[in-house]
Amino acid sequence: MILPNIIAIDGPAASGKSTLGRRLADALGYLFFDTGVMYRAVTWAALQRGLDISDEAAITALAEAIVIDIRPPSQPDGRACDVLADGLDATWGTRAPEVDANVSPVSAYAGVRRALSLQQRRIGLRGRVVMVGRDIGTVILPEADLKVYLDASAEVRSRRRFDEVIARGEKADYERILAGVCNRDQIDSTRAVAPLRPAEDAVIVDSDKMDADQVFQYVEALCRK
Ligand code: DC
Repeated sequence: MILPNIIAIDGPAASGKSTLGRRLADALGYLFFDTGVMYRAVTWAALQRGLDISDEAAITALAEAIVIDIRPPSQPDGRACDVLADGLDATWGTRAPEVDANVSPVSAYAGVRRALSLQQRRIGLRGRVVMVGRDIGTVILPEADLKVYLDASAEVRSRRRFDEVIARGEKADYERILAGVCNRDQIDSTRAVAPLRPAEDAVIVDSDKMDADQVFQYVEALCRK
């Protein structure tokens, strides 16, 4: 049996791409690479430095200069990996609500995408990789051997995000999460450069009526076909 060497998983915010990608990478012994983390790290660093998110030139210069590193977890606090931005630990910072609110405009800048895409493609071409994002199958690695587009309605995705926050013992507002998810969908799918859309040869998986186990089993079976 020949397994797909490069697996691309794309889809909208909170569709379960990372959960699926991580499990698949574990099952196959592949590298898991969540490219959204890179856009989040640039956004986090921009906010830390007090940059104006609407200043495209400044944000692009930052994306070109910053060194983003993904390392094995250094703390037993539930993190899957360390995210370092110019050597600083940005792991939880990249998940903060301010980053959620600002990452879509940052990722719409052509220069930011150019800077990060080059690094993503270089890592992906090494193979034995499950790469997760918005444009992996369409732009970063169009030669991927298996392309999955994981979709779900905005309501179902927001409900899952809401449940995750509540499970962490934090407060959450469903309507606010839904508004944020819809806003990010709108920006991600209408931007001029590399908009969110399924590749022509992607397998579209609608997870509205599937739980995480069912999605994993379905995609794992595609890999082993
Ligand atoms: O998957 P995520 O929520 O961590 O992604 C954060 C943002 O980065 C999201 O608004 C879309 C953007 N992104 C992108 O444009 N291209 C990618 N390959 C990955 C993420």
